[in-house]
Amino acid sequence: MTFKSIRGTKDILPPETARWQHVESVVRAVFHRYNYKEIRTPIFEQTSLFARSIGELTDIVGKEMYTFTDRSDDSLTLKPEGTASVIRSFIQNNLGEAQPLVKVYYISPMFRQERPQAGRLRQFHQFGAEAIGSPFAEADAEIIAMTIEVYRQLSLTNYALKINSVGCEKCRPRYKEILQTELRKIAPQLSPESQRRIEQNPMRVLDSKNEDDLRLTSSMPLITNYLCEECSSHFEKVKSFLSSLGISYVVDGRLVRGLDYYTKTAFELTSSELGSQDALAGGGRYDLLAQELGGKPTPGIGFAAGFERLMMVIEKKGLLNDLDVHPTIFLAAADETSRSWVLEKTMELRSHGIAAETDFLHRSLKAQMREADRQRAAFVTVVGAEELNKQAAVLKNLRVKNEREVPFADLAKVLSE
Ligand code: HAM
Repeated sequence: MTFKSIRGTKDILPPETARWQHVESVVRAVFHRYNYKEIRTPIFEQTSLFARSIGELTDIVGKEMYTFTDRSDDSLTLKPEGTASVIRSFIQNNLGEAQPLVKVYYISPMFRQERPQAGRLRQFHQFGAEAIGSPFAEADAEIIAMTIEVYRQLSLTNYALKINSVGCEKCRPRYKEILQTELRKIAPQLSPESQRRIEQNPMRVLDSKNEDDLRLTSSMPLITNYLCEECSSHFEKVKSFLSSLGISYVVDGRLVRGLDYYTKTAFELTSSELGSQDALAGGGRYDLLAQELGGKPTPGIGFAAGFERLMMVIEKKGLLNDLDVHPTIFLAAADETSRSWVLEKTMELRSHGIAAETDFLHRSLKAQMREADRQRAAFVTVVGAEELNKQAAVLKNLRVKNEREVPFADLAKVLSE
């Protein structure tokens, strides 16, 4: 019997892993520049944490979570997103006591049992950040600017930023009622999914992916026209900060997002390089979430971005193609007696911080030389009786195709130059 990876999961293999590592380091560098610090939360949590924060009626909680009962009969769930866990940790560890604004980031696998397709996996990876403690629009602008900065740093500019305000507990209920009344009038023509949502989560009907639904709801009232004074003024400030930071955006009154914890600002970054799953990143404000999870009322805003989708765009554009690690030197043994010396020298060079490789398959000298080439080593040296006798190696530079004799004692120094 052979085994296969689970549908919707993916092995990330070399040389692709080198690209992932590079992108991770770019992401970290951007986050650090904005003074966000890393937080690592467990891969699974109590199921009720997600039901409570993301919302019982969302697709994620309703049909996508990897939920299981462990041997103690506790219901646990592999995290489908990061925000709920971060806020749980923020409350549990009193992070707000030490500082009034907590800025954290994460890079982590997430799990959702969605129908797999290009850009949609069941185990996927996100990088994301949360700024917890500021109710002000400057924090929204910072998060959005930081999201965009990651793509800019990677020379990706072909994206669109959509923003919206989804209101708050003061203005949203009235808008929802108005929308519901309008939607009920056209209910029979809508898709079954949207019909279901009219009563449960009417704003998501506007976010439907179904073309007919979109056409039928094209003249529906939008939340942007029903915001209370506070939400409206907040939204105006966010827009004005974005403009002054030179960030272009489109206001999309239909943007709702698939998680229920949002208040005020919601945003999404989409790429035309992707297919139907075109959202590179998404985020928004969640001023009621900490309270909802049993903490002190604390406003917050954050975003998360799909790693795989970013990698798809990078690949499509042919960027970051030569990042794989290669040995600096390959030490080949000319005969059996020099093998043990070659192994020791390889280890010694490594201890001096040099990427060194040798043969572990007892191959012929010709095969070892081929391997050095295949590994794209910068240098190769062949050691046999003559070299051992002279205590010197002939160092061949495989890039510029020249060679020079170097005493064994100087090898590490020469290779570090
Ligand atoms: P989200 O929109 O559910 O938001 O996910 C953020 C990003 O994760 C998406 O834009 C997409 O790039 C990626 N993503 C989501 N599901 C999948 C999947 N099945 N396969 C591949 N990529 C996927 C959140 O998760 C919120 N926690 C964002 C946030 C942070 N809001 C406030 N703070």
